[in-house]
Amino acid sequence: MTVAPLGLVVLISGRGSNMVALARAGLSGRIPARVTAVISDRANAEGLDRARELGIPATVVPPASHRGRAAYGEALAAAVDAAAPGLVALAGFMRILDGGFVRRYEGRMFNVHPSLLPAYPGLHTHRRVLEAGDAVHGCTVHFVTEELDAGPGVIQARVPVLPGDTEESLSARVQRWEHSIYPEAVGWFAEGRLRWQHGAAWLDGQRLQQPVQRGEA
Ligand code: GAR
Repeated sequence: MTVAPLGLVVLISGRGSNMVALARAGLSGRIPARVTAVISDRANAEGLDRARELGIPATVVPPASHRGRAAYGEALAAAVDAAAPGLVALAGFMRILDGGFVRRYEGRMFNVHPSLLPAYPGLHTHRRVLEAGDAVHGCTVHFVTEELDAGPGVIQARVPVLPGDTEESLSARVQRWEHSIYPEAVGWFAEGRLRWQHGAAWLDGQRLQQPVQRGEA
């Protein structure tokens, strides 16, 4: 029996390199998932064109036309639901989502964040890591919950912070790993190996006490 691939809606605000990594992993057959729609809050997000180049419908839901976070969440949910996804993937979507939106996709929404959560939630993670003088940095894929960047971690990759690193060089090293661990996590979910139960992430029938570890540090 052939099982239909999992439909994935990816939310972006910028370059969309993680969206491309997810789309390519699906198109190449590496994971049983297909990006069926890309939605951005910004009309000038580079990733919109990259999605269209891959044949993926890409639309904009601009926040300016909606008053308040809840109204924006409803408009966004309508656009997401139109694609009837099995999973929603936040990939550089730089907008805090309201509780109604997050609850609607509970257990079927992931985010990728550029730090080893729970360290450095929020913005400017590479700068903060450099300022702190940390020797190790990384990225995390996690289930999204109402508390920002605090949902159960699924997988994370560690990279070294090297002498002379800038925000740009560090960010590039971290992103290379994002492009590997995000498809890996989505693949597990699509295969039914990874699921959400009672507020926790479960992989192969085991509750994850900490994210699966990858990386080079
Ligand atoms: C990624 O590095 C992702 O971790 C980060 O934005 C970048 C988007 O890049 N996300 C956050 O900072 C969320 N708080 P991309 O558009 O090329 O995928």
